[in-house]
Amino acid sequence: MALLEVKDLSIHFGGVKAVQNVSFNIDAGIVYAVIGPNGAGKTTLFNLITGVYKPTTGEIRLDGEPIHGKSPNELAERGVARTFQNLQICMNMTAIENVMVGAHLRLDRNLFKAALRWPSLRKRDRELREEAAELMRFVGLESYTNARADTMSYGVLKRLEIARALAMKPRMIFLDEPAAGLNPKETIEVDQLVRKVADSGITVVLVEHDMKMVMNLSDRILVLDYGKKLAEGTGEEVRKNPDVIAAYLGAHG
Ligand SMILES: Nc1ncnc2c1ncn2[C@@H]1O[C@H](COP(=O)(O)OP(=O)(O)OP(=O)(O)O)[C@@H](O)[C@H]1O
Ligand SMILES: [Mg+2]
Repeated sequence: MALLEVKDLSIHFGGVKAVQNVSFNIDAGIVYAVIGPNGAGKTTLFNLITGVYKPTTGEIRLDGEPIHGKSPNELAERGVARTFQNLQICMNMTAIENVMVGAHLRLDRNLFKAALRWPSLRKRDRELREEAAELMRFVGLESYTNARADTMSYGVLKRLEIARALAMKPRMIFLDEPAAGLNPKETIEVDQLVRKVADSGITVVLVEHDMKMVMNLSDRILVLDYGKKLAEGTGEEVRKNPDVIAAYLGAHG
């Protein structure tokens, strides 16, 4: 059974059919990319799977269990984490505090158990801080631990957001354009980080316009166009698909 199964998924905003009858499966442990021109429905698809929107029709299953209509918090509990196309970082907090927010999202639902398990909240806080520091190292931001977010560059904040999502200890992570707005050096760093996340056993779902990165990282690729599934397959299959060439790669020269 696939880890994630999406069947006949649609959402309409008034007259706009942002996602139309899209079906695909994602196996555990792979890097899966979703590509398509601006407005194709990629972010909307992420919003549907991560519980921000409820589908007009269709089904989403995680490990065979229906998850459509569940809230982002419930989905986080089931191991679904994400980053946002537009950064959602708390600018008046330090880098490590932002990462700890992710850990709190995971742990607060277990507050009662946690209170029994840990002798004091101070110890709990210290453990979360250590865990967050470890994630800062993992994403290569150890030198920024106590920096305020509003002093950090955009490229660094993009990686901080990944660290915060990882603090939720997800099974699946959805990254919406992790390399958007980054310079070539930062893009390579994010490319390597995504590989490292995947190698750690987390299933990665990636929306990205940087085709080099998509082709380099992805085991499979879903192509959306005007909310519909245009193609799905390996990078090689997708690259050769005449519909994809016409609608997507053609449009981007
Ligand atoms: N909340 C909403 N209300 C109305 N229309 C919406 C809403 N969210 C998305 N849309 C519309 O759905 C379509 C798909 O948008 P979406 O943001 O998913 O595209 P995208 O593929 O992520 O594009 P981009 O590459 O520019 O990020 C667009 O026409 C958009 O205007
Ligand atoms: Mg988008």
